Amino acid sequence: MIRLDGVGKTFRGRDGAEVEALRDVSLNVAEGEFVAIVGASGCGKSTLLRLVAGLVGVSAGGVSLDGQAVTAPRAETAMVFQAATLLPWADVLRNVTFPLRLMGRMERDTEDKARALLATAGLAGFEGRLPRELSGGMQQRVAICRALLQEPRLLLMDEPFGALDALTREEMSIELLRLWAARRMGVLFVTHSIPEAVLLADRVVVMSPRPGRIVDVVEVALPRPRSFDQEGSDEFQRCARRIRAHIFGERAARAA
Ligand SMILES: Nc1ncnc2c1ncn2[C@@H]1O[C@H](COP(=O)(O)OP(=O)(O)OP(=O)(O)O)[C@@H](O)[C@H]1O
Ligand SMILES: [Mg+2]
Repeated sequence: MIRLDGVGKTFRGRDGAEVEALRDVSLNVAEGEFVAIVGASGCGKSTLLRLVAGLVGVSAGGVSLDGQAVTAPRAETAMVFQAATLLPWADVLRNVTFPLRLMGRMERDTEDKARALLATAGLAGFEGRLPRELSGGMQQRVAICRALLQEPRLLLMDEPFGALDALTREEMSIELLRLWAARRMGVLFVTHSIPEAVLLADRVVVMSPRPGRIVDVVEVALPRPRSFDQEGSDEFQRCARRIRAHIFGERAARAA
């Protein structure tokens, strides 16, 4: 479905200095596939998602969706940003339904679906609150509901659980997997957490420090449905160790 072909991205700073964020990145994401991306801070993960979302253009190579070049944001793609990016003047329910309203895709049952999603995210009773009345983690959950309500074919998630406490994080991961199993959208999921990447994904893409390149793609053969109980399994350990080896070097992986 999504195809990145030799993608490079170089930014020019205001002082004219160039930053090469990505170099020669090639990756395919199949329809309904769950792909996680891990790598050090600054290696270009957010940039990669923005390119796929059509929010910024490539400097080299190409990004296509169903064989068509991605040059602008598309209705079948939804994104959860690293920061929640809610509309400060709109209540929770209006924030969640805003993209569909904007695209003229409101149906009779859209608000009910929104309420149901908010309830599964632990936000029942907060529909009428403003973002500033919520904690950071709650705001992020609203942003996740907003993306899911669009029922996208491609869901781009940039460290969506970064602002959540460990318990909520586990709960939301399992909830995301449940929704994904029901709808089977393609997911590109950026995370700093190696266990989270292994638990969620079919494949984990490991990126090098700047300029970001793909150094390995780890297939995760854990059976689904997944649960955190699988963290003790040999396959989980094998995947986590291999990813860690790339990120921290071989010696750190053996010591872990
Ligand atoms: N709009 C921009 N203008 C200039 N440089 C940018 C821009 N966006 C990103 N960069 C640079 O590109 C590099 C990659 O940034 P990016 O945000 O993609 O990294 P990241 O992997 O998402 O990091 P983190 O894990 O900290 O979120 C960084 O060096 C950053 O400074
Ligand atoms: Mg980022």
